[in-house]
Amino acid sequence: MSAMRPLIAGNWKMNGLRQEGLTLARAIARLARDAGNLGCDLLVCPPFTLVGDVARELEHSSVALGAQDCHAETKGAHTGDVSAEMLADLRCRFVIVGHSERRADHGEDSSHVSSKAAAALRAGLIPIVCVGETEAERDAGRALEVVRRQVGESVPGGTSGGRIVVAYEPVWAIGTGRTATPEDVGAMHAAIREVLQNHVENGADVPILYGGSVKPQNAGELLMVAEVGGALVGGASLDAEDFLTIARSCG
Ligand code: PGA
Repeated sequence: MSAMRPLIAGNWKMNGLRQEGLTLARAIARLARDAGNLGCDLLVCPPFTLVGDVARELEHSSVALGAQDCHAETKGAHTGDVSAEMLADLRCRFVIVGHSERRADHGEDSSHVSSKAAAALRAGLIPIVCVGETEAERDAGRALEVVRRQVGESVPGGTSGGRIVVAYEPVWAIGTGRTATPEDVGAMHAAIREVLQNHVENGADVPILYGGSVKPQNAGELLMVAEVGGALVGGASLDAEDFLTIARSCG
């Protein structure tokens, strides 16, 4: 991760059998190579089942590899879970923690997310800590308050800014085709920056990604907003051309 370059991260979620995942990774690596200097860093986060295969596929490419979750412990009796060390062992550099789908589907609260982020840091991974308000919270005028609290509670205090990424993803924008306005994104990212500056070392160095229905059509205007350091892309990251078009929007 470079301090200056935006990060365009693909979250494949629970998608892709082996052949599809390998084909997608190969296409992204080829398009990234053909594009030359993109002006951003690229990352893909496949499901656990594909991490090892995709690692081999991306070995000689500029595309970084991450996973979508990790356990807070290093090892032990946690059936079905995967530790940050296991991901680092497969050459992951990043791991998403606290995605709203995990917060909702698995009841993960911010203190749990913070433990996972700390585990990722111990394993030498860069955690991408996700935060975002629900539609009801935004309608009630509580979006800034909710997200400020999530950042304070989900990002381990005192972390060095260059070793962590935050992703702001309004829950109502994920997978819906709706996005926050550039004004709302700007206000939220400024609020997140302020919290980070009081909470971690070198808070100015933490990239703050926007996520939620980022598409080739809207990426340009979202990525231009002050304090937007890249994008976390779900649906559109499953299409190599779309993913690269979003990356090219970084200019
Ligand atoms: P989406 O997902 O781009 O499909 O809205 C984003 C995310 O959940 O990370």
